[in-house]
Amino acid sequence: MIVLGLESSCDETAAALVMHDRRVLAHRLAGQEAAHAPFGGVVPEIAARAHVEALEPLIAAALADAGLTLGQVDAVAATAGPGLIGGVMVGLVTGKALAHAAGKPLIAVNHLEGHALSPRLSDPDLDFPYLLLLVSGGHCQLLLVESVARYRRLATTIDDAVGEAFDKTAKLLGLGFPGGPAVERAAALGDARKVPLPRPLKGSPEPHFSFAGLKSAVSRAVGHHAPEDIAASFQAAVVDCLLDRTKRALASVEATALVVAGGVAANGAVRASMQALAEAHGLRFVAPPLWLCTDNAAMIAWAGAERFAAGLTDPLDVPARARWPLDPSAEAVRGAGVKA
Ligand code: KG4
Ligand code: ZN
Repeated sequence: MIVLGLESSCDETAAALVMHDRRVLAHRLAGQEAAHAPFGGVVPEIAARAHVEALEPLIAAALADAGLTLGQVDAVAATAGPGLIGGVMVGLVTGKALAHAAGKPLIAVNHLEGHALSPRLSDPDLDFPYLLLLVSGGHCQLLLVESVARYRRLATTIDDAVGEAFDKTAKLLGLGFPGGPAVERAAALGDARKVPLPRPLKGSPEPHFSFAGLKSAVSRAVGHHAPEDIAASFQAAVVDCLLDRTKRALASVEATALVVAGGVAANGAVRASMQALAEAHGLRFVAPPLWLCTDNAAMIAWAGAERFAAGLTDPLDVPARARWPLDPSAEAVRGAGVKA
């Protein structure tokens, strides 16, 4: 079974072809960094227009890479949310048109489900249920992944997402955009003990995350310490918070593995700390390769393949959604992230 996947929920346009036996036949990606860099963040209108321009050539290139025609594809999967609504609509409408034209089923994929199932694409031995730390530009959640389409949210952020905190720290330190990788590079040159920074909600009886106070503390430290030391201290504080909250969640669930996914899972310090935590608990640790952590279409095609295999397809009038929680029963938490 071959699935064409499309991703356009934020600032990456991507198309990929993935088989249900985990072979990635093609994956193409066009970033928009240059278009957004002058603004220090993603501008929704610019993003939507860039998706329109980039998507069709990327799909053609992915099909050519795989040596396939659209007729040889078994299903079309497109991100249907959550994310910047203009961009989501571009990808979803394109997916609908291709599915309709080729007479193939459409699968509307939740972008977060793409991240959540991505470790099963890279690791064939990863079984349900697993505890997932999902850390991206718009989210910071702990989820128990019970099966395809069944997610129990254990914790989320009450204010900023963790990737957002990385991006804001980069901006405050003048490190440019996108911020996560720049902060990680600067942190490698700094001393994490130099700048005292808070660990919001560490040790709290409630399960959630918070990063707004950390960001404010970083802004107060700017000008009083070397940028490298601030970056290192910030990253250490983030790792401390993630570890504390994940440890708390591990005590409350039965899981086969600890998994980290999403853009911030590309961070070496985050990966290493989670690996150590898993080992201390005698659990398997799984993190997708870096290219599969940050936004891409292979994870959307894979989530589509998993849903298709489970008999889950969608009608052509399925809506695009700016907000779309993975666990609809989870209570709303004040200020939780809105991006993908
Ligand atoms: O999953 P993703 O590509 O897009 C969203 O769905 O949000 O995540 C993007 C986020 C950005 O905030 C980016 O700064 C962060 O992931 N990120 C990193 C690293 N690479 C990307 N954060 C910390 N360290 C990194 N190496
Ligand atoms: Zn993402």
